[in-house]
Amino acid sequence: MKTTTYQPGKNIDDIRKKYNIKRVIKLASNENPSGPSIKAINAGVKIQKKINRYPDSHSVKLKHAINSFLSKPFIKSNNIIIGNGSNEILEFVARRFLNEKSEVLFCKHSFLVYKIISKNMNAKIIESKPVNEPGSNYLSIDLQDMSKRITSKTKVIFIANPSNPTGTILKVKEIDGFIKRISKKIIVVIDEAYYEYALFRGFKSAINLLKKYPNVVITRSFSKIHALAGLRIGYGIASDSIAKDFNNYRQPFNINYIAQEMATVSLSDKSFVNKSLKENHEGMIYLKSCFDDLGISYLDSYTNFLTINLGKYTKRIYNALLCQGIILRPLDNYELPNYLRITIGTEKENKLLISKLKKILKSVK
Ligand SMILES: Cc1ncc(COP(=O)(O)O)c(C=O)c1O
Repeated sequence: MKTTTYQPGKNIDDIRKKYNIKRVIKLASNENPSGPSIKAINAGVKIQKKINRYPDSHSVKLKHAINSFLSKPFIKSNNIIIGNGSNEILEFVARRFLNEKSEVLFCKHSFLVYKIISKNMNAKIIESKPVNEPGSNYLSIDLQDMSKRITSKTKVIFIANPSNPTGTILKVKEIDGFIKRISKKIIVVIDEAYYEYALFRGFKSAINLLKKYPNVVITRSFSKIHALAGLRIGYGIASDSIAKDFNNYRQPFNINYIAQEMATVSLSDKSFVNKSLKENHEGMIYLKSCFDDLGISYLDSYTNFLTINLGKYTKRIYNALLCQGIILRPLDNYELPNYLRITIGTEKENKLLISKLKKILKSVK
């Protein structure tokens, strides 16, 4: 079977060299533009002296920190699985629950990793249709359409909430109603990589569904608001038996020492998280108002990115910005060729993007 390739955001140094420009800004991979928490950095520097030793195989300290952060009586440390990025947890799901006889279900335009890991297991990929009516739900996941596509072979359903690259959300009540009606043998993954960013719009996590449904797996990431993408660390929350199975299956030292330490410290640095949230919110308001002025439409994002529609000019605008040192994310491989995904940057980066975009728009139209 043909594999799907993930195309990461272009690398800053490559663009610097290729176009011979000093200042390159990357707004392509939904990273926190302000860098990690200072407290986490200091903890990471301190721990370097110990890296002659293997890390804690069970990430005990981090699991405790996550457990108290989640603060749910029905979640214990043994319901938590730490992954080399939340991608690793997603991959555990595919490896343990999919094979060539099974079907996997997710919405069209979903995070590409779902397709990659499912193809690697030779599972049959079924894509549901997104919401098609204009409005704030445009291109979000249509759970009714999804329900219709479930068969006796469906083993795993991936739901990103908020979703990437659309940024849209589903309400917990809707997800609850959906799961209630399906077989409890189907694993439903609710990918909450953007959970913290979504809080600024009153987003509610689906975490309480774990109490009701043993077939739910929730995944979270330290790559987004916690700004630790380069360390590769994320976590999953699941029933005792799924968590035990994944923990038995994983490599014994899948999480390095520095990642464990920095994630633990970052989780408790509330002022860092709140500052990042505020900056993202301000950046989002600024960019939306600029796009409104420019007559550019965008999807209803609950994240740290905005997905804008540039129609037939998309490729030209993307390339023109790239030559000038601004890396955005084209979405051809998400079957959204008329859209570009823009990570909210720092105030300076957002302003630079808009000033360049304004000039480019005049020349392409
Ligand atoms: C929806 C979604 N899930 C998961 C991930 C992967 O995150 P991690 O860096 O924790 O592997 C991303 C990364 O962009 C994402 O957008």
